[in-house]
Amino acid sequence: MTYDLIVLGGGPAGYLAAERAGNAGLSVALCEERSLGGVCLNEGCIPTKTLLYSAKLYDGVRHGEKYGVKAEGLTIDHSEVIKRKNKVVRALVAGVKAQMRNSKVTVFMARGVIEGKNGADFVVKAGEETLLGKKLLIATGSSAAVPPIEGLKEGLASGFVLTNREILDLSEKPERLCVIGGGVIGLELASYFNSIGTKVTVVEMLDHIAGETDQDLVKILKADLEKRGIVFELNAKVTRVSGNAVHYEQNNENKQVEADKVLLSIGRRANTRDLGLEKIQVLVERGAVVTDDKMQTNIPNVYAAGDVNGRSMLAHTAYREAEVAVNNILGEKDLMRYDAIPAVLYTNPEISSVGETEATAAKKGLPFKTVQLPMQYSGRYQAENEGGRGIMKLLVDPKTERVLGCHLLCNYSSEFIILAGAFITQGLTLNQIKKIVFPHPTVSEIVREAVFQYK
Ligand code: NAI
Repeated sequence: MTYDLIVLGGGPAGYLAAERAGNAGLSVALCEERSLGGVCLNEGCIPTKTLLYSAKLYDGVRHGEKYGVKAEGLTIDHSEVIKRKNKVVRALVAGVKAQMRNSKVTVFMARGVIEGKNGADFVVKAGEETLLGKKLLIATGSSAAVPPIEGLKEGLASGFVLTNREILDLSEKPERLCVIGGGVIGLELASYFNSIGTKVTVVEMLDHIAGETDQDLVKILKADLEKRGIVFELNAKVTRVSGNAVHYEQNNENKQVEADKVLLSIGRRANTRDLGLEKIQVLVERGAVVTDDKMQTNIPNVYAAGDVNGRSMLAHTAYREAEVAVNNILGEKDLMRYDAIPAVLYTNPEISSVGETEATAAKKGLPFKTVQLPMQYSGRYQAENEGGRGIMKLLVDPKTERVLGCHLLCNYSSEFIILAGAFITQGLTLNQIKKIVFPHPTVSEIVREAVFQYK
């Protein structure tokens, strides 16, 4: 038979596209070589959140005196945390499997490789099977980038250096962890391992951590993390990894940090190799599949969604891109927008952002006004964050009085940053937002407060 759609990759982009297409009545084949759910479910978003929740609970009780809570003999058992993580992952992977069944998607647990064309159909080899498809969706995701640094490959082979994949299966707590790269993965895992008692050093090439995140918020977070014992080595260029150390150059000096394990988290590369993309001339630039705003590649009937197109390597972007691709496959017009995609750094406290920062707005020459408030404006925040130093920033276009961006340093912000995302997507004006009733008391009321404080 010829499938209406063949999906390569069973991560958030692939499984959601397969589900939507299956539910719309298309015959769908999905190829996955490792585990349904992809990086997000198996070795990314979900497992790290289970680890971070255990750490948050432990830290909350450990520092509970300020709330009148005292505990004795408190411990955190890393191996139990990992066991629970595995249970959560298993349940969710089983859920995706059930979704595929319910949507009548045929799953091939094998790597899908494009062989070429047979008339108008695409030919894909999935293990021993040869599949034919009218349309293709490439959703093969990304992998940890491995730069050409001396000793890194050997370190990965020996198990001294780990990526996000292996570190989540460490059954024992390392005494000393060196994190190469102070981005999202590095900071989330530095935060967890610090909480369970590992001595953590983050080695970052730039003069700041957390990439393009609002640096006023990041400075406060960094100071908090330093107070907890995490050491940051900035402007530090890693030159070599040896038996038990990471060597780096900082201010023209050669330095090293000794460690029991090293986490490599310096960014990700789209998985475009050995997929047979060249057999059908799919355009790949800087290692990623090029897509338009319908998620179509340069080849008609071939789409790409998720990390593989390198546009915004986030699971929630992947979901939406998958829907856009399927809607276009079904002949419905739907275009992808990238201007209101929330991003969250799940440290404790969290940083959540959407839209422009002051730095990106200035760079683009966009006129903006900023409302900045301490989180103490929220009663719920005060009740639950003794001594908290959270802040919020709202960026507004002074001409249209529409929201351009929102940045929050406080817990729960991941749960309500979408408010600002919705304001941007829908183009709501401050006057329209003022008429929305927020539940009280909630941390989210800070958004309403900022809107009223705008002058
Ligand atoms: P990243 O791009 O966020 O951070 C990498 C960091 O490594 C940067 O600060 C960079 O300057 C630094 N770096 C690069 N080369 C270096 C070197 N040789 N030595 C020292 N530092 C170096 O990448 P990361 O953390 O690996 O995350 C990858 C992707 O996963 C991101 O695109 C992110 O969107 C996604 N992700 C999202 C999460 C979330 O939304 N909460 C959580 C985890 C990952």
